[in-house]
Amino acid sequence: MALTRPTEHGHTAGDDDVSKRLLDSAAALSFDPSTEIDWDAPLPEEHYGLNPEWSTLYGTRLWDEMTERQRITLTRHEVCSIMNTGIWFEMILQQMVLRDQYLKNPASAEFRFALTEIADECRHSIMFARACEKMGVPAYRPNKVVAQAGRAFKALAKGELAYGGILVAEEVLDVMQRDWMRGENVLEIVRGTSRIHVVEESRHMKFARQEILERMRHAGPARRRTSATGIAIGAYVIVTSMIHPGVYKAAGLDVGRALAEVRGNEHRKAMMRNSSRHLMAFLAEAGLLTTRSAAVYRRVNML
Ligand SMILES: [Fe+2]
Ligand SMILES: [Fe+2]
Repeated sequence: MALTRPTEHGHTAGDDDVSKRLLDSAAALSFDPSTEIDWDAPLPEEHYGLNPEWSTLYGTRLWDEMTERQRITLTRHEVCSIMNTGIWFEMILQQMVLRDQYLKNPASAEFRFALTEIADECRHSIMFARACEKMGVPAYRPNKVVAQAGRAFKALAKGELAYGGILVAEEVLDVMQRDWMRGENVLEIVRGTSRIHVVEESRHMKFARQEILERMRHAGPARRRTSATGIAIGAYVIVTSMIHPGVYKAAGLDVGRALAEVRGNEHRKAMMRNSSRHLMAFLAEAGLLTTRSAAVYRRVNML
């Protein structure tokens, strides 16, 4: 009978229990950003877009030379750049998850959670779009080469490669947003949207980890190595695309000097390494941290 046929990636009843728990959790605690956020509240002038420690320039000489107004403008543009990268990636993710579930068993909890996740992401992207509009920051987009690479990835990636890319983006954002939502000097619109995102994404991350472990169960060494490299390249693209160079221009800075100071910023590198610790531990556990992929993660200071 069609409804009981096993899925092609060896999804078991035990795996479905994970999805069942995630569905229960989603039923108990999910948000509607259109009513949850006070979209009409004015933005206090002295509030940052993100905690200064999360600014790419924090800890540099240039940061010390900047006026307080420039710092506020920079952090607002940085947070919107990250939100726009979030929207871009959520669009990729929704298509990959939808493709992965094509003609899968609609009676399974896995199918229903996957669709719940897509619905979450749809609300998140609208929420981020509204937040950026409210902050008056233009839509920063990835450069043409990266945009085309994303187009290819979303059309072709599947299994652990697709869910690995998803997990990387979600983990990196999660660590930052946990700080943003607690930042007393951070705009309420950023704190509120971060709070919603952190709660709902924690389920997505569990789902992605489960999907990856399922696919890796029967993967041979060649496939494991190829996927490990693919996920690392995805991580490289995500991390290097997060902050658009236009944010420095918006803060009235010399873009060339700002980029050079970001590249040498030891504080920034330590923040990246710290926020990737959990992800690296999981990838190692899943057999997806190989010599080659580790070299890529080191290049972007995730390891
Ligand atoms: Fe999201
Ligand atoms: Fe997500």
